[in-house]
Amino acid sequence: MNKVGIEEIKVQGKRVFVRVDFNVPMDDKQNITDDTRIRAALPTIKHLLANKAKVILASHLGRPKGQVNPKYSLAPVAVRLSELLGQEVQMAKDCIGPEVQAQVQKLQDGQVILLENVRFYGEEEKNDPDFAKKLADLADIYVNDAFGTAHRAHASTEGIARYIPAYAGFLMKKEVDIMGKALESPARPFVAIIGGAKVSDKIAVIENLLQKVDTLIIGGGMANTFLKAEGKEMGKSLVEDDKLELARQMLKAAQGKGVNLLLPVDLVVAKEFKADAPARTVSVDELEADDLALDIGPQSAENFASAIVSAQTVVWNGPMGVFEMEAFAKGTEKIAQAMAKCQGTTIVGGGDSVAAVEKMGVAEKLTHISTGGGASLEFLEGKTLPGVAALQDK
Ligand code: 3PG
Repeated sequence: MNKVGIEEIKVQGKRVFVRVDFNVPMDDKQNITDDTRIRAALPTIKHLLANKAKVILASHLGRPKGQVNPKYSLAPVAVRLSELLGQEVQMAKDCIGPEVQAQVQKLQDGQVILLENVRFYGEEEKNDPDFAKKLADLADIYVNDAFGTAHRAHASTEGIARYIPAYAGFLMKKEVDIMGKALESPARPFVAIIGGAKVSDKIAVIENLLQKVDTLIIGGGMANTFLKAEGKEMGKSLVEDDKLELARQMLKAAQGKGVNLLLPVDLVVAKEFKADAPARTVSVDELEADDLALDIGPQSAENFASAIVSAQTVVWNGPMGVFEMEAFAKGTEKIAQAMAKCQGTTIVGGGDSVAAVEKMGVAEKLTHISTGGGASLEFLEGKTLPGVAALQDK
């Protein structure tokens, strides 16, 4: 990554505004149910504290739509972060204004404060310059470590970088370096697995990856549209009829580029979308008129796994079936296991596939699990992320 990183700058005694992505899942009682994103930001925060910066953390949580809403307060995150850091994390009541300014003024070197949810102001998502300036006025230096929000051109991810020098945090660098290398100069064979419900969500990803990969594996609900485009009868399965022509064009493009495009050869089907619906495995030529495809079948999983295991670079985004239901989780599980066995670089992005590797307990065996959902998808689309573009080049 050609951006200046925090290890290259002097931070001692400086007020450093760090945009993190603490958009973590919480239950009804505001207990954090997964603190991965908090942990992922620790190397940057620890580095700044160890080097005696005054650290001002900012994040969004959820989508409060520009209104103050206690349900989306970051206060529980301050508590969790302070446990993880082993030091006090002050919680500000706001993210701008005189009270916050006074609190920041009092910060000592090596102390840390977490600002309240920046999305309590509508100006954040509008990337309002005055709001961005108010955030910038709190600090001397800006650091962006929020890869998960880097696809948003918001005041705290993009606008602020116009006012104070802007650098990349460790997590930001790691995400962009690993995924950037996989896309730009991958060790080959390079295999991508794309799943999830709909083709329409991943058109740009498929189009971009077709230019780069040796093998493209398509599974999950979106495979139904490709199978129908090949003339298969998909019964009552989810099919995007308005994307059939596009699917045909993609199949043709893959052929033209010599990309090995793998689709399911068998499927796990049921008559109803229910966890306890009786399930059958059928070939893709054997679906009945009232069948719903809910997972890839064992032969497909085997074919996909063998391509994954022998790859040098693998990128995976999107589950192979309705993996939340035990009866339809085997395809996704098999992919997670194959990823763990692969000796090459293995990268997983997107909430569902990340949840699957964690559920399978194989997360440790993979090279990189992206903290970005939408951000990693846009990265795979080949887009420039505004939060990255705003940072200083070397
Ligand atoms: C995410 O969870 O993908 C990021 O935190 C971005 O959140 P958003 O989709 O609400 O902008």
